Amino acid sequence: MYNAIQVNKDTWWTGVNDHDTDLFESLWPLPQGVAYNAYVITGTTATAAIDTVKGPYLDEYYNKLLQALGGRALNYLVINHMEPDHAGLIAQLKKQWPSLKFIGNVKTVPLLKGYHGIEEDVITVKDGDTLDLGGHVLRFATVPMLHWPESMVTFDTTTGVLFSNDSFGGFGAHEGGLFDDEKLTARWAGEMLRYYACIVAKYSNVVQAALKKLGALEIKNIFPSHGTLFRKDIKQVISLYDKWSKQEAEQGAVVVYGSMYGNTKRMAEAVCTGLAEAKVKDVRIYDASRADMSNMLRDIWRFKGLALLSCTYNTVLYPPMEALCSKLLNRMPKNKVLGLAGSYSWSKGALTALQDFAEKIKLEKIGPEVEVYTSPTDEDLKKCCELGKNLGEAVLS
Ligand code: FEO
Repeated sequence: MYNAIQVNKDTWWTGVNDHDTDLFESLWPLPQGVAYNAYVITGTTATAAIDTVKGPYLDEYYNKLLQALGGRALNYLVINHMEPDHAGLIAQLKKQWPSLKFIGNVKTVPLLKGYHGIEEDVITVKDGDTLDLGGHVLRFATVPMLHWPESMVTFDTTTGVLFSNDSFGGFGAHEGGLFDDEKLTARWAGEMLRYYACIVAKYSNVVQAALKKLGALEIKNIFPSHGTLFRKDIKQVISLYDKWSKQEAEQGAVVVYGSMYGNTKRMAEAVCTGLAEAKVKDVRIYDASRADMSNMLRDIWRFKGLALLSCTYNTVLYPPMEALCSKLLNRMPKNKVLGLAGSYSWSKGALTALQDFAEKIKLEKIGPEVEVYTSPTDEDLKKCCELGKNLGEAVLS
């Protein structure tokens, strides 16, 4: 991906691959890297870039931009999103092309001023407003909170390309081709769901509203600002987003345990045995102390069953389990069945905390709830197995 790549008529990918950042937002691991997709459209009367990339990639981005422009000036920068992974080079573009005009919406304006000190040459657009580049008419639609308040998408009415911003984005740098028909689905779909669970899930209601809003457009390609570009099977990827945002969970279960000395882990294994007895085939077990948070969130979002088992730590919930519960409360998953178990030695606390969590998250609880003193007895493990079996039956019902 060392060059600008033509991705549709007069339309160029000018993005970059980032294999240097280890944590996206300084939070989420990037084992396959991440791509910042940016685009250029060269109309007959004007040129427009759709977003830029993260600041450290100035040289690479700029070289591709010049290639795509083929000696012409850049007339417009469409700012679909002000988050710095896409807006890192706005000020530099203005320096290069002083007559450059910025296209944003009313919520873009304060962010543009705050990040880049830019107040002039800003054209604010509303839903349905258009920009004619000559042979390409761009239409804008705001999608607030997908992923920031100023987020918007841009639709090229000529080519049918939707520049979808963070929507339909995924972790993972481009490793060969840019498009869905140039990659194995298995290579991008998991990273797209992990991105959804970490970055977008909290705004699932907004995704549903946006899908309805964009439903009237004749979309032929979806070009997001991260990850794979879609041209082969648009319906498939829209249907994935519809499913994730409606929270239509799959028939599987995630078991997460927090354990210091292995006793709560044994309880979790017993829950897994119960799930297997109920014939649940897709079971994922995670040690909350060691598992990556983003992988847990991805699978919890995907599957219907969730069992949380925690030891007590200083009279309250074990910290890694507390961290997971906090992330889940921030995202408020729905349509799941929840099993709980806690353990303690010199003070109770974990199960009560998990019960409080269950109240707040409003998921359907499946019993029995199990509370174990010190080390689980055979009877305790049988109860955990029963919890797993009941949870499994609820998952498959
Ligand atoms: Fe990829 Fe919300 O920025």
